Amino acid sequence: SEKKIVIAIDGLSSCGKSTIARQLAKELNYLYVDSGAMYRAITLYFLRNNIDFNNKEQILNALDGMDLDFRLNEQTGKVEMFMNNENVEYLIREMIVADKVSEVAAIPEVREFAVKQQQKMGAKKGIIMDGRDIGTTVFPDAELKLFVTADNAVRVERRFKELYQKNPNITIEEVAHNIEMRDYIDANREVSPLRKASDAIEIDTTNLTPEEQLQKVLKIAQNVINN
Ligand code: CDP
Ligand code: CDP
Repeated sequence: SEKKIVIAIDGLSSCGKSTIARQLAKELNYLYVDSGAMYRAITLYFLRNNIDFNNKEQILNALDGMDLDFRLNEQTGKVEMFMNNENVEYLIREMIVADKVSEVAAIPEVREFAVKQQQKMGAKKGIIMDGRDIGTTVFPDAELKLFVTADNAVRVERRFKELYQKNPNITIEEVAHNIEMRDYIDANREVSPLRKASDAIEIDTTNLTPEEQLQKVLKIAQNVINN
């Protein structure tokens, strides 16, 4: 049978990572894991429980016993994030979480907690994970690493369109501000900042339709799998 590999996809917000990951997972019949959903779920928990982001003891207590898992929704065919058995897939995409997630994801104890679980999920191969540190920290030995980019204005426009469907009160300025802030924190934090791994292949999606980007990355992936 065909060899199963690990595919790591990194890049800034709204550059097209999860679209590529979902497309490839479908074509290759691989498991897709959205690592950002875990940081978002942890953030939701911290906000609900008023965890002080500077208090290590509170943070460790909050993480102790926190149960994060991805479950397949049979109706939609999409994987959804569950936190302590509650479906939080919708809530974690709200701006309230997006506003704080990069701060929470910069906390070393939070990263250690998430990375450990992510590495376990990859042990059986046949997995595609997207995030910020997948090719550098989570799976440094991944057989295929993609580093996805897109022009800033295009990223803002794409994310705005997505969020506007859920909340017509959202403004493009709000989205632009959130993306700019997260870009900065994610690229400049001390632990596992966003970096292009030296062996990652760069994919600029600025001028690609989802169909065009799929053709491009599928060819690359099949090349790695068949060689
Ligand atoms: O979908 P989007 O690109 O907006 O973000 P996401 O993938 O849902 O990730 C949300 C946030 O989680 C990012 O802005 C990072 O702060 C953090 N994150 C991270 O630090 N490391 C990862 N592997 C994935 C996400
Ligand atoms: O995962 P990430 O935050 O990097 O981005 P995404 O969720 O894959 O893409 C953000 C939005 O851009 C989605 O609504 C995609 O449908 C859209 N997109 C696009 O219009 N053209 C592409 N080539 C890739 C994504």
